[in-house]
Amino acid sequence: MGIDLSVSFTGLRFANPFLLASAPPTESESNIMHAFAAGWGGVVTKTIGLHPVVNVAGPKTKFLRFFGDGATISMNRGRQGVLHSSWNWELISDKPLDWWLPRIERIKKAFPSRVLVASIMAGSGSDKELEHWRTLARSCQEAGADALELNLSCPHMDRPDMGSNIAKDLGLCSVVTQAVKEVARVPVWAKLTPATSDIVLEAGAVFRGGADAVSSTNTFPSLPLVDPQSLEFEMNVDGYVSSGGLGGPAILPLSLAKMAQMTRAFPDKAFSGIGGVSEFAHALNYFLLGCGTVQVGTAAMLDRAVGPSVLKRLVAGYGEFLERQAHRGWQSLEDFRGLLRDRVVAQSQIRRPDQAGYQGGYEPQEGYAEPDPAPSPRD
Ligand SMILES: Cc1cc2nc3c(=O)[nH]c(=O)nc-3n(C[C@H](O)[C@H](O)[C@H](O)COP(=O)(O)O)c2cc1C
Repeated sequence: MGIDLSVSFTGLRFANPFLLASAPPTESESNIMHAFAAGWGGVVTKTIGLHPVVNVAGPKTKFLRFFGDGATISMNRGRQGVLHSSWNWELISDKPLDWWLPRIERIKKAFPSRVLVASIMAGSGSDKELEHWRTLARSCQEAGADALELNLSCPHMDRPDMGSNIAKDLGLCSVVTQAVKEVARVPVWAKLTPATSDIVLEAGAVFRGGADAVSSTNTFPSLPLVDPQSLEFEMNVDGYVSSGGLGGPAILPLSLAKMAQMTRAFPDKAFSGIGGVSEFAHALNYFLLGCGTVQVGTAAMLDRAVGPSVLKRLVAGYGEFLERQAHRGWQSLEDFRGLLRDRVVAQSQIRRPDQAGYQGGYEPQEGYAEPDPAPSPRD
C-alpha cells in the first residue's frame, strides 16, 4: 500500500503538508503554476494589498553566507559559501488586486485540488482601512482562493497601522481578524511577527477574533552587516539602510521557540510553521511541536525560484520517515503531531543532578575553560 502524505488542516485537504510561503516564489501566475506542477501541497500567494507599492532601488533580497573557515559572513562574496540566512526589505506584491484576481481564477482552474491561500494586507487605522481587508477577502475568495492568510507581520512598514505594527497591538490583532471573519467563507489564517515579547498574547488575540489558524513566523528584524573595507552596509541605497527581515537556516531555532510557546498555550488550535525549513528533518520539528503544515520561503528561492528539489526532498524524507516509524503504527501526521509539545517546559522544571552527582564547573564542556584539576585530598 502506498504511503498517504495528505493532511487535513483548517478543514482543507492538502496532498502533502508542504506549502510555499508568501514570498517571491509565489509572486506570479507562472511561478505558482510551476510550484503546483512540482507537487507543492499548497501555496500562499505573495501578499496582495490595495495601496500602491514601490520597492527600494536595487536588490530587495540578498543571501548571507559563511566563507572559508566560517569567520567571514557576507552577502557579497558570491554563492560558494554555506548559507546562513536571507535578508530582505521587499514590500508586499507590487501588482494590484485586479492583476491578481484573474490569475487566481486561472490557477484554480488548472489545479482545482491544490490549495491556494491568498495572503492579504491593509491598514487598520480607520473603518475605511478595515473595509479594505473585507474587499480583499471577498475578492480573493470569489476568485477561488481556498483560504486567506492575514499578513499582520510584514517587518518593513513605516505605517503604524500596517504590517507587523498590527501584530504588535493586541486590539488590532482581534479587530482586523474579526473584520475579515465577518465576510470570509473560507478559513482565515493569521500570520504573526516574532518581534514581540510574548507571541502567546497575539495568538490569543487573533483566535479571539476568530482566526482558524496562526502562521508563524515572518522574518526577524535585522540589519545587513557592515563591510569592513568600505565601511558601508553590505546592502544599502545611497549609503542608507533600514531594518529588514532575516529568514532561512539562522531562524529555524528562533522560530521554533515562538511556535512552542503558542502550541503549548493553545494545544487544540491549528498552526502553520514557517522559518528555516529546507529538509524534512527541519519540518519534523514543527510537526512534533504541533503544527499541521509548514511553509518554505528562502530555501525555495534558492532552488530554481519555486523549490522543486526542496519539495522532492521534503516528500521523500516524509515518506521514509513514515516507513521507518511504521512499527509504531504511524500512518499519517496526526499520529505524531504534537508528540514533543509538552516536553518544552519552564527551566525550573528541568531536573538538577543530585548532590553527589553535581560537578558544578568541573565537567569538561565545549565553550568553557578546562576544568580545574580535582582537589587533592591534602588541599
Ligand atoms: C524576499 C522575501 C519576501 C517576503 N515577502 C513576504 C510577503 O509578501 N508576505 C508575507 O507574509 N511574508 C513574506 N516573506 C516572509 C516569508 O513568507 C517567511 O515568513 C520568511 O521568509 C521565513 O521563512 P523562510 O525561513 O523559509 O524564508 C518574505 C520573505 C522573503 C525572504
